[in-house]
Amino acid sequence: MMEILNTKVAIIGSGPAGLLLGQLLYKAGIEHILIEQRSADYVSARIRAGILEQVSVDLLKQAGVDQQLNELGLPHHGIEILTNGEKHRIDLSALTHGKQVTVYGQTEVTKDLMHARDEAKLTSFYEVNDVKVHEFYDLPYVTFNKDGQEYRVNCDFIAGCDGYHGVCRASVPADKIKTFEKVYPFGWLGILADVPPVSDELIYVQSERGFALCSMRSSTRSRYYLQVPLTDKVEDWSDERFWDELKNRLDKESCEHLVTGPSIEKSIAPLRSFVTEPMRFGNLFLAGDAAHIVPPTGAKGLNLAASDIAYLSSALIEYYLNGSKQGIDEYSEKCLKRVWKAERFSWWMTHLLHRFETESEFDIKIKQAELAYILGSEAGQTTLAENYVGLPYELKKFDELKKVSIKYAT
Ligand code: APR
Ligand code: PHB
Repeated sequence: MMEILNTKVAIIGSGPAGLLLGQLLYKAGIEHILIEQRSADYVSARIRAGILEQVSVDLLKQAGVDQQLNELGLPHHGIEILTNGEKHRIDLSALTHGKQVTVYGQTEVTKDLMHARDEAKLTSFYEVNDVKVHEFYDLPYVTFNKDGQEYRVNCDFIAGCDGYHGVCRASVPADKIKTFEKVYPFGWLGILADVPPVSDELIYVQSERGFALCSMRSSTRSRYYLQVPLTDKVEDWSDERFWDELKNRLDKESCEHLVTGPSIEKSIAPLRSFVTEPMRFGNLFLAGDAAHIVPPTGAKGLNLAASDIAYLSSALIEYYLNGSKQGIDEYSEKCLKRVWKAERFSWWMTHLLHRFETESEFDIKIKQAELAYILGSEAGQTTLAENYVGLPYELKKFDELKKVSIKYAT
């Protein structure tokens, strides 16, 4: 027999987007259920990016999950760009009135949020099958199967936080949705290793042999990436080959400082730009990777997921506390404004710093001139810096939302 549950918001997906939304709704006293197809262990072990904008840090604080982040997050005030064998520092803080980014792995963000969820004993279903979203233009409900038991969750809203391959976007009628996509003809080969980072700050490398990135997770754990052809397989890349190729793309000084060691994770990720319009379909909202993908060059993926959730949580809280649908009605438009700006920045960084097989000698010269201009001009550097630290967005403060509070019955 089907088990029937009732809630206000059904959240599909337990990535950073779904978990953060759950935590913010919980803090505001709004009931929800989280539904995830993978196991909790799988979700909390995935290795992803690691740069948080200040607005993302603020949101994690609002969600009450910033304790570890405050202890272990590394504030970064600048990045290096290496081109023609020379490093140029972009002083993020000086160029953006004191803003910074925080180095803290998405894996840790996920674990912190899952831990908070466990502590609060919030309802979550992991390892479920056959998730389906129904009637989201009317009275929505979600069905799924867990351990042979069929479930039906009746709700007011469905939050589609189920990533690029999720079921929510795929359930929207084709005539109600438009997607925009650009696939890049290369991938990033990433490794994680327990070695100290080559430098105190991230180094973005533009070289004739292709892009590379020196990043980190802590003072003892490094994350490095190489641009590789899409045809390459992880098995083609021994640790030794990886380190040798990284050295080929780095400057002499960095090579001298580079500490190599065995990889603890190695994977290849394809690069893609992708946007869905709109991001709301009746009572179904898309958020995070379910709605958009950026290539990782601008470090925007996780931060865009966080800004969607800032808008969505605020809209839902406004609805349940004040009875106003304004935030809900504006959700898609507000998100997409910020999304497209981050898409542009990520596309631009990708173009500027990567080698494309199809580019002519003229294209290469123009790109070199553009990079030289950016690095040699305060205006150019400011453009890069203000996008990198994160463009501002306006949100009603939680306290403001609570001012006019009415009781809302589902
Ligand atoms: N039913 C339930 N859960 C699903 C389904 C489904 N049909 N399909 C996918 N999921 C789950 C996935 O298993 C995953 O745990 O949804 C979750 C989506 O999480 P993420 O892919 O991490 O997406 P999001 O939360 O939007 O986070 C965005 O992750 O990929 C990075 O660069 C991206 O940093 C960004 C962040
Ligand atoms: C990472 O540390 O994984 C990372 C950092 C910056 C990026 C992309 C990935 O632009």
